[in-house]
Amino acid sequence: MARGVSSAHPLFVSRAEGARLWDVDGREYVDFAGGIGVMNLGHRHPAVVEAVREQLDAFTHTCFQVGMYEGYVAVAERLNALCPGDFEKKTLLLSTGSEATENAIKIARAATGRAAVVSFSYGYHGRTLLALTMTGKVAPYKQTFGPFAPEIYQSPFPDARRGYDTERALRALDELFETRVAARNVAAFIIEPVLGEGGFIPAPFPFLRELRRIADRHGIVLVVDEVQTGFGRTGTMFAIEQAGVVPDLLTFAKSVAGGLPLAGVVGRAEIMDAVDPGGLGGTYAGNPLACAAALATLDAFDADDVLARAERLGRTVRARLDALVARYPSRIEDVRGLGAMLAVAFVDAPGDDGKSLAARVVAAAFDEGLVALTAGPKANVLRILVPLVATGDDLARGFDALDRACARVLATTSHLPPTEAQNSCIT
Ligand SMILES: Cc1ncc(COP(=O)(O)O)c(C=O)c1O
Repeated sequence: MARGVSSAHPLFVSRAEGARLWDVDGREYVDFAGGIGVMNLGHRHPAVVEAVREQLDAFTHTCFQVGMYEGYVAVAERLNALCPGDFEKKTLLLSTGSEATENAIKIARAATGRAAVVSFSYGYHGRTLLALTMTGKVAPYKQTFGPFAPEIYQSPFPDARRGYDTERALRALDELFETRVAARNVAAFIIEPVLGEGGFIPAPFPFLRELRRIADRHGIVLVVDEVQTGFGRTGTMFAIEQAGVVPDLLTFAKSVAGGLPLAGVVGRAEIMDAVDPGGLGGTYAGNPLACAAALATLDAFDADDVLARAERLGRTVRARLDALVARYPSRIEDVRGLGAMLAVAFVDAPGDDGKSLAARVVAAAFDEGLVALTAGPKANVLRILVPLVATGDDLARGFDALDRACARVLATTSHLPPTEAQNSCIT
């Protein structure tokens, strides 16, 4: 295995169900990572397993560019209906979130005849070269991989903690247009409605609304990257709905297909159709097994009332995280996020930066039977991506493990530098 591939935990999984994982030694864990936001519907939802099994018995692959199949069209119709916007929409299916963000930009460039793209600092859009160029976090993703794609500009993400409230972030965008690229040369804005890898920081709704207005004024395509926020994680199907903003294009992946690799771009028909036939696709894009899983996943969202469950789960998670902040006010800064996409930020201390503290809590929690993840530019945030269908018992066990981990680490904070493995933050 290449050294560049790493894992957050010394964990070899043998089985998974709902919000639980079992390792090869039979040890059970509560899963607060959900394969980084992929398992909103839980591991091995029976309807998803059944749908994939049925598809397996029919055919597993044709390549849509060679032979078409109903599942792809059905998923496209579902996404067209789900994506916000009272206008005709079309969908492109792919396999990964990185492909989704790259293809959104290809489509926006084809539709506008412009080259430039504006992304936002601390945003994460994937590991392939254009996606990586748009990503606003250097370590560990970018530092050895330049040169990057041309005509990508970054503006500060609106986050008051980093000195950019909505007004200041909008001024910085103005300045970008004055000093580096003319708005009329910009094909697209791409933004996460809530920073995922960047630390679970929601963009203020007024900023997103103003971005919509600026996009309209200059003919810029507004792309929202809902790869991590989508499919109920923030309490609505897509986070952007809560801002009352309608994007031109929306990228999705992760929880759309209950653990199978599926991703895509959905949006305004006239923008999606700017690309000539043959200009979009991919050998595995919209794989039949993944499409079958997506249809079963989306049905289960309705049948199991997952959005209502997400809202209730978000309240429980927030209450448990609030209690942690109250218990350790000098070491845990705040609870951040939207809906059930929540995190706590650990506070740096001299000789013991926040990064090591969050990483050590995650490592201690693993010993206590909880699989959790860090996030944020310094891996200073502990993020919760528990399946939205987690039971009360799953949550109680997971948070009790987290409480014990915090008690252990915060009582004995040693001010030692963290190990390399503890520091790595994986998306
Ligand atoms: C917001 C966002 N965009 C894009 C990606 C890239 O997705 P993938 O890892 O499937 O390429 C991710 C992955 O975490 C993400 O969170």
